[in-house]
Amino acid sequence: MSSMPRVVIVGAGASGLACAISLKKVHGHDNFTIYEKGSDVGGTWRDNIYPGCSSDVPMSFYSLSSDLHDWPQSHGSNEDIQAYWVGLTRKYGLYRHIEFNKTVVLAEWNSEKQLYTLTVENLATGEQSVTTAAIVVSAIGVLGFPRYAGIPGRETFKGELFHSGRWDTSIDLAGKKVGVIGNGASATQFIPCITEDPNVNVVNFCRTPNWLLPPARKTYSNLRRAILRNIPFAYRLVRWAVFLRFEFMYLAVFGNAFLRKIVTKLLTSYIRYTAPPGLHDKLIPSFPVGCKRVIFDTHYLKALHRPNLKVNWDGVERITEDGIITKTGDRIPLDVLIFATGYAADEYPLPVVGNRKMSIQESFRADGGGKAYLGTTVPGFPNFFMITGPNVVTGHTSVIYTTEVQINYIMQLIAPILGREIESLEVTQNATDAYDDKIQARLSNSVFMHCHSWYRVGGQGKVTNNFPAAATVFWLWLRKPNWNHYKVVGGESNLSMKYVAK
Ligand SMILES: Cc1cc2nc3c(=O)[nH]c(=O)nc-3n(C[C@H](O)[C@H](O)[C@H](O)COP(=O)(O)OP(=O)(O)OC[C@H]3O[C@@H](n4cnc5c(N)ncnc54)[C@H](O)[C@@H]3O)c2cc1C
Ligand SMILES: NC(=O)c1ccc[n+]([C@@H]2O[C@H](COP(=O)([O-])OP(=O)(O)OC[C@H]3O[C@@H](n4cnc5c(N)ncnc54)[C@H](OP(=O)(O)O)[C@@H]3O)[C@@H](O)[C@H]2O)c1
Repeated sequence: MSSMPRVVIVGAGASGLACAISLKKVHGHDNFTIYEKGSDVGGTWRDNIYPGCSSDVPMSFYSLSSDLHDWPQSHGSNEDIQAYWVGLTRKYGLYRHIEFNKTVVLAEWNSEKQLYTLTVENLATGEQSVTTAAIVVSAIGVLGFPRYAGIPGRETFKGELFHSGRWDTSIDLAGKKVGVIGNGASATQFIPCITEDPNVNVVNFCRTPNWLLPPARKTYSNLRRAILRNIPFAYRLVRWAVFLRFEFMYLAVFGNAFLRKIVTKLLTSYIRYTAPPGLHDKLIPSFPVGCKRVIFDTHYLKALHRPNLKVNWDGVERITEDGIITKTGDRIPLDVLIFATGYAADEYPLPVVGNRKMSIQESFRADGGGKAYLGTTVPGFPNFFMITGPNVVTGHTSVIYTTEVQINYIMQLIAPILGREIESLEVTQNATDAYDDKIQARLSNSVFMHCHSWYRVGGQGKVTNNFPAAATVFWLWLRKPNWNHYKVVGGESNLSMKYVAK
């Protein structure tokens, strides 16, 4: 086995683990290591421990197609989801492949040796070591690097301060004045939970409203769970039904202006019906539905009726040692400040240097933002594969689905490398340019262009996070590699005989 080319996966979140499982299942490949900067697997679900954190996609579809699970509720809490991934890590014997508390600080392609040299830092000791791999898979996620919104004065605040993605469980909020900056998916999940206690006084600093869908969470009956466990194909049917529901949602929200108008009316009525009347004007967005991530309401609108929750729309001017000064000059004293201000999703943080002696960051900058063929491969970076690379997020369906589609594609691409039929494989510039032109033409006419969001470079530039079509199209495009879009080193004839001819 060890004579097989070595694969390094960066990141042990859902994507890295799913990739490792496929390496074992599809290729029987065992010569791989996952480097993980955290101290356990799970990524998003290890890090997000804020009260009320849960999926907004039903778990029947937000789980691996190979590992269906008997979920007690439609939507999983962070604990349930984390336990699921820890369970899969054990089931597939992945722990022995993972090196925790190790961050990959550089991956550099060596054209002569046809492999990557990786520099790995041990976060416990600060020591750096060097290792090599024939193939590198980036599974570092998109929503793992907290952003603090660049508000001046953050370092002067003398109270407790943390980001929603790094919740500080040691702080008891009871009896405290708590400021929450942001009203996106994270804030709207934890604000209803923390304000359940009338002794927690929250001021929610909001800048832009969001479209919210009515709550969708259900607890499953024992009968339903027994049916799904025991009747063959019942679970598959449920998964298909959820998939199709989200595809319909794509059509209604992103694909059709007439249906979007109807959805807009329905969601406006939902906000008017649920939120306090005095806030309606502020809470109803002026941008089209789908432009920002649509949020499944977890009773945030209802919580706005609570006397211990106030919404402030004046804008945050700066943070002082004891609170916030708004753009209207009001001083709001605070004991705790929670940043629910999202993530640096427009910057790819893993330093990779390819065969053009250019880093991937320089390459993306030159292109005005992330650009990858099918969101997976980048010209100039042989044997380097990205999961959730540029323009992969659909904004309407399960990320685990898109991850599985990408992994299936990557498993096909790496087959000739693992089999030592070729040494390396690199997507052509032409194929990448043509693909990017196609998707950017679609995106420039899309709903995503009408507001500020993490989908776009700097919030308002090129859309580099979204895929501009339904999830079915994503599957269709990545189902089989077009080998003509790749150039190879070593064994060109092997590739053409065995793969291109198919
Ligand atoms: C609060 C929250 C809720 C969400 N809910 C949903 C949902 O309901 N449905 C949905 O489809 N999506 C949801 N998402 C998106 C979610 O991020 C993805 O669904 C999925 O979990 C991403 O998995 P991943 O493995 O690609 O990335 P991550 O989970 O981010 O994992 C990446 C891993 O890589 C590690 N890493 C990063 N850089 C390095 C490095 N240089 N060296 C070593 N290790 C590194 C990180 O520590 C991390 O463990 C949610 C996101 C958030 C933040
Ligand atoms: N399963 C789930 O339901 C779930 C839960 C959490 C997260 N997620 C995923 O994670 C993504 C990120 O969610 P998130 O809520 O963490 O981040 P986010 O959606 O990026 O929201 C960040 C919030 O911070 C606000 N903000 C930023 N700078 C500000 C400033 N200077 N002053 C005031 N407000 C400011 C933003 O306002 P503007 O809108 O004005 O920029 C926005 O309301 C989601 O889109 C979703 O994909 C999913």
